[in-house]
Amino acid sequence: MSENVEITKASVDAVVSDALTLIQGATDLASLKAIRSSAVGENSGITKLSSLMGKLPGDQKADAGKLITAARAELNEAFSKAEAVFYQAEQNQKLLEESVDVTAAPMTQVLGARHPLSLLQDEISDVFIGMGWEIAEGPEVESEWFNFDALNFDADHPARAMQDTFFVEPVEAHLVLRTHTSPVQVRSLLERELPVYVLCPGRVFRTDELDATHTPVFHQVEGLAVDKGLTMADLKGTLEHFARIMFGPDAKIRLRPSFFPFTEPSAELDVWHPGAKGGARWVEWGGCGMVNPNVLLAAGIDPEVYSGFAFGMGIERTLMFRNDVKDMHDMVEADVRFSKQFGVVL
Ligand code: DAH
Repeated sequence: MSENVEITKASVDAVVSDALTLIQGATDLASLKAIRSSAVGENSGITKLSSLMGKLPGDQKADAGKLITAARAELNEAFSKAEAVFYQAEQNQKLLEESVDVTAAPMTQVLGARHPLSLLQDEISDVFIGMGWEIAEGPEVESEWFNFDALNFDADHPARAMQDTFFVEPVEAHLVLRTHTSPVQVRSLLERELPVYVLCPGRVFRTDELDATHTPVFHQVEGLAVDKGLTMADLKGTLEHFARIMFGPDAKIRLRPSFFPFTEPSAELDVWHPGAKGGARWVEWGGCGMVNPNVLLAAGIDPEVYSGFAFGMGIERTLMFRNDVKDMHDMVEADVRFSKQFGVVL
């Protein structure tokens, strides 16, 4: 500011007008802050004018002081007002951006439940793991040899026929969807050192239509023990223990003579189910027997030295009579309301 500027109404109005123009040019809090110093601060016209006060003769000081004070008040007020307006606008914008839509559909996390077939499969596995058995696995697409031949099925055994077995193309590959878990018997014998005590739970396939008691995809559990000196008594004791854990201390088992190509002798296994709805009763549970020497031979084991027992049962069927599930559809439809009845078990 040049020396000859004086503190007059006109000069004060001029700096006020310049400063107001600056303030009006601001567009938000940040730009307002940037012009603070030149509009009302150290570098502003009004500050420079007031620095002339000291040189004024005493009698002019009062009037000049009033002009300066009024101008400062006007500018400060304009600045504060602009600041308030921008602050409010920014606040509103923030609220808008961070707003919560209380009408929006809630994101509910519905807890699932493990399928009762998986739970039962684990429960069965635990019984045998507790006895020192191992869990064995085999492929679901199985070679016809493991599924039938190695298990001593005749070439013309009716179970091979098209109506039971899903054959996998090309037919020359001799692959099937395994019709039972028994092929894991020979696989386990070939893969493991003797003695062998294995349990194989798994999925099996047959060309059945889905109805209340059948499904083309279901689960079985296979047991196989091969050791020196095993007898029918070992088979019976093992199954009795298994039955008591599954159906309570009053459960017992009964073996009825039967035929399976891979066991000799063979038996149908019934279980006395004390907790059955409608009263305790015998229920057909599965098949079992002493491993046929031909099966041991197929695995390269000398039947003169080793003997074995085997058993197999359906897991769906076990769940049906153990937990009174009346319709197979409930087990395959994957409705969580069905699974939840058995508890949310992790
Ligand atoms: N694999 C037979 C089936 O699917 C069940 C079976 C019967 C398994 C007797 C066995 C057994 O291990 O010894 O019907």
